[in-house]
Parts: sequence; structure tokens; C-alpha cells
Amino acid sequence: MSRHIAAKITGVAGYLPPRIATNSDLEKVVDTSDEWIRTRTGICERHYVEPGMAASHMATAAANELLKYTDVKAEEIEMIIVASVTPDMMFPATACLVQDRIGAKNAWGFDLSGACSGFVYALTVGSQFVGAGTHKKVLVIGSDVMTSILDFQDRATCVLFGDGAGAVLVEPAETEAEGILDFMNDIDGSGGCHLYMPAGGSLHPSSHETIEKRMHYVHQEGQQVFKYAVRRMCEVSCTLLERNGFSQYDLALVVPHQANLRIIRAMQERLGIDDSKVMINIDRYGNTTAATIPLGLRDAVEQKRVRKGDLVLLVSVGAGYTTGGILMRWAY
Ligand code: UT7
Repeated sequence: MSRHIAAKITGVAGYLPPRIATNSDLEKVVDTSDEWIRTRTGICERHYVEPGMAASHMATAAANELLKYTDVKAEEIEMIIVASVTPDMMFPATACLVQDRIGAKNAWGFDLSGACSGFVYALTVGSQFVGAGTHKKVLVIGSDVMTSILDFQDRATCVLFGDGAGAVLVEPAETEAEGILDFMNDIDGSGGCHLYMPAGGSLHPSSHETIEKRMHYVHQEGQQVFKYAVRRMCEVSCTLLERNGFSQYDLALVVPHQANLRIIRAMQERLGIDDSKVMINIDRYGNTTAATIPLGLRDAVEQKRVRKGDLVLLVSVGAGYTTGGILMRWAY
């Protein structure tokens, strides 16, 4: 049974810090090569923040850009959800920092931790408040400063990630046929041990020992995550299409989480979807965790790859494991 939400995206925006790190730059830091990174991941370059720029600063920049783009006043925003695994600090929530900086005086909000599925989860949650009729304008943001938790001595992880933020505005859908047609999200906590940051929380609070043992960084068993991601992204995509009476041929665009070009291509091949219908920007941004999907939507709009009425699929797998999928009719 599909789970329609009477809510639609009415604007997208993003922010990428200006500093670019190419694969050649990383060759100077770890034992890697441009050739390995390109062929194994599809990444050519990624953006890095300068010291002092946090998730809230990028989220604020994306939010301000979105308000300008949609011509909405900050006071009209009723709710702000920020998906991030790299919040500025444990508390207050990044959403509070963004609310204050953009002047959204009438909003409440919170942060959501869903790793690479964070944006899909946050969009599901924010849309429910709009669909329920209690909120008319919700800001959903994905923002991650992955460089703040990358181990630049671990070549298997540090080459994969970049920093960035993306934001969307969610407003009520006017008809049954537009906006979010269905969503499918799940978690599988048994996969938690394959992608995680061991310290800095209540289990291992920061100490000399946690720093010496390099426990404040991303730890990943790449192959485990890779296999899970391909399988679950395919399953979620198929289920969402099937239970709504669509086939892959009805899709105008798939915006998948950008973790590895080989994951995306494997999923695409299994689903039988044409290259022209798959949004790819991992080559320029790397994996920006909660920001990959809103940045993909932003680029799709800028490149005129999505139009009003198009069937669009968002799909992600991330640490947790978390899996998310949203099927929607693009509404503007
Ligand atoms: O967004 C969150 C979810 N994350 C993901 O979805 C990531 C999923 N995993 C992946 O994308 C891939 O598993 C990786 C990109 C992380 C790794 O690619 P892989 O093809 O699975 O490589 P591997 O781990 O099997 O390593 C193959 C070889 C190893 O060398 P040996 O043991 O064969 O001699 C690694 O040491 O590649 C080596 N290697 C590297 N070589 C050059 C690993 N990283 C690098 C590197 N440069 N940066």
C-alpha cells in the first residue's frame, strides 16, 4: 500500500564551500592515485570547508539561497529540520543555529541523524507536518562537514567524502497527483558495526585515549556497505515503483545517494534505467552524506533535467544501516 503525503517540494538550493580538493591533492596526503579513485569511486574532486566553517554555516547559506530563490520570508518558515552526522556540537541542535541566523522567528525544529539517508528521512518527517495540515512551510536541510570526521591517514575513507549542504522548501500539495506519492524507509541496526564513528558520544566520551586510538573518525568496512547499498537501493526502488503501479520506464529522474559511482551504476543496471535518467554529481562533490540528494535535486533543476509532472525517485543507503526512498511527482 502506498503512503501518499499531501506535500510537495517547491524549491531547492545548495551550498558548496569554494575550496576544491582534487584527487591529485589527495595523492600528496595518502598513498593513493587519481586513477584508483576515479575507477573505484567515480570521484574527481570534492569541496572542503576552511577551518571555522561548520554544518550550521553551510546549512544557513543553503537556506538563505533557498529563501531568495522561492521568494519566501524567513518569518513564514514554521519548521526547520537539519539532517547531519556532523552537527556543530552535540547541543544546541544545528536547526536552532540556522533558525537564529536566517531570522525564522516563527519556526521550531530539530536535527535528525540518519547518516546518508538523513535527508530522505528529514523530508519524510517534514512532509508529514505539511500533509497533516498543521504546517505550511517547512525547511528541510542536509548539511555535513565530513572533513571534520575524516581520518587523513586512512586512504580507504578519506578520498570518498566532501563537504556541502542542500535545502528544500516543502509546502502543501494542491492535488492528489502532485508531491510525495509514497515513501519507504527502514533501518537495520545489525549493520551499525560496518560504518560508524566510535567516540565522542556517551559510550566513549572524548579522552586522550579516544584521540590516540583515532576513534573520532569515520570507520568503514567498504565492501560490506557496498553490497548492502546495491541490494537495498534496488529493492526499495522496485517496491516503490511496483506498489504505485509504475515501471522503470515511467521515471523521469532518479536521484540516488552519491557514495560510489559503481553502486549507482550497479543499481541502475539491475533496474534497467537509462543513463539520462540518473542524476550523477559524485565526480565533482564526492560523498557529502546528508547533502548528496538535495544537491542532486538542485543540479537537476539547474540543468533542466526535471520538469513539473515528472516522476522522480530519491533513494539512499547509509550508516545504521539506514535505507530511504521517496517517490514524487515534481511540482514546479
Ligand atoms: O555513504 C555511506 C555509505 N558508504 C558507501 O556506500 C561506501 C561503500 N563502499 C565503497 O564504496 C567501496 O567499498 C570503497 C570505495 C570504500 C572501496 O572500494 P573497493 O573496491 O571495495 O576496494 P577494497 O576495499 O576491496 O580495496 C581494494 C584495494 C585494497 O588493496 P589490496 O588489499 O587489494 O592490496 C585496498 O587497500 O584497494 C586498496 N585501496 C586503495 N588503493 C589506492 C583502498 N583505498 C585505496 C585508495 N587508493 N584510496
